[in-house]
Amino acid sequence: MKINPICSKVEMMKKPAKLNRTIKLSKEEIENYRSRLIRLNEPVKINAVVNKIINQDLLNVIDFLPEDFVDLLFIDPPYNLTKKFNERFFKKMDLRDYEIWLDSWLSKLRKILKRNSSIYICGDWKSSSSIFKVGSEYFKVRNRITWEREKGRGAKSNWKNCTEDIWFFTNSETYTFNVNEVKLRRRVIAPYKDELRNPKDWQMEDGAKFRDTSPSNIWNDISVPFWSMPENTEHPTQKPEKLLAKIILASSNKGDVVFDPFLGSGTTAVVAKKLGRKFAGVEIDEHYCCLAEKRLVQAEIDKRIQGYEDGVFWERNTLIEQVKSQSSKVKQK
Ligand SMILES: C[S@@+](CC[C@H](N)C(=O)[O-])C[C@H]1O[C@@H](n2cnc3c(N)ncnc32)[C@H](O)[C@@H]1O
Repeated sequence: MKINPICSKVEMMKKPAKLNRTIKLSKEEIENYRSRLIRLNEPVKINAVVNKIINQDLLNVIDFLPEDFVDLLFIDPPYNLTKKFNERFFKKMDLRDYEIWLDSWLSKLRKILKRNSSIYICGDWKSSSSIFKVGSEYFKVRNRITWEREKGRGAKSNWKNCTEDIWFFTNSETYTFNVNEVKLRRRVIAPYKDELRNPKDWQMEDGAKFRDTSPSNIWNDISVPFWSMPENTEHPTQKPEKLLAKIILASSNKGDVVFDPFLGSGTTAVVAKKLGRKFAGVEIDEHYCCLAEKRLVQAEIDKRIQGYEDGVFWERNTLIEQVKSQSSKVKQK
């Protein structure tokens, strides 16, 4: 058989890779999941929005949201970049206008927060200062987390941009912070022993030496979702479940309500559900809302979060060790 190398390459590109696990929606699924979405046109009580996805423009919804019901507010707004979200474009604006836009909904969202709530807001390096400026008008600034995404587009005349900032605010001086729930399991480079030859602050896991360390404000253990991961969707700026798991475990307790006003493909809601929290969220795009609903159904059966195993967050490139740890736990049972 004669093979035309150009054709075969194009054909190969068209075929979805064998291990591509990207979540997609059939027409029937869209019909089904659409019926679960809600729209608000009058003020409602807490029960009407808890564990629900509101498919509307945030700015048309805020006035109808209940007061004082959110323990953790996670916000991943469109960054100040021209970007297509399915059928809509977010247009890059002057930084001052971006601040006005941030303020237009952040100032109003304060009413939904409980007194002891925490607030996390994501941004890129360019809009990070705007988030700080607007957020610190209303909340107490606790920290700025820098997430090294790893993936980024190379630049010829600038440094490649592969970080994002996540500002951590609280509504008052009292707030939840479960530091022991978010330990990072790292490989030990210098395995010191005490005078009795016992490991000093580290443990052996199936031949590998690890230490569970307190989490810092630099997160370099989390990759962006990619096509071979079961959590991946076609959303262009989907956040990783592992990132949300850290925030939700640290800053909320079981049964608390986690709210996301720019829900996208539903990562916040899905992780909240997997970790025994309640959720609520707003998303303007119906297709993304349906993807979120599909993920929520899947989360009923499969509660795993990639990279979070055994009650700890694992360093990058430790999948083999995580699998070994899981199977030895299963054997012990
Ligand atoms: C950065 S993405 C959030 C991604 C999300 N964290 C995830 O993991 O999939 C921002 C989302 O905000 C939505 N959005 C933009 N403007 C909106 C508005 N006015 N009201 C509600 N949603 C909006 C976009 O459709 C987009 O899905």
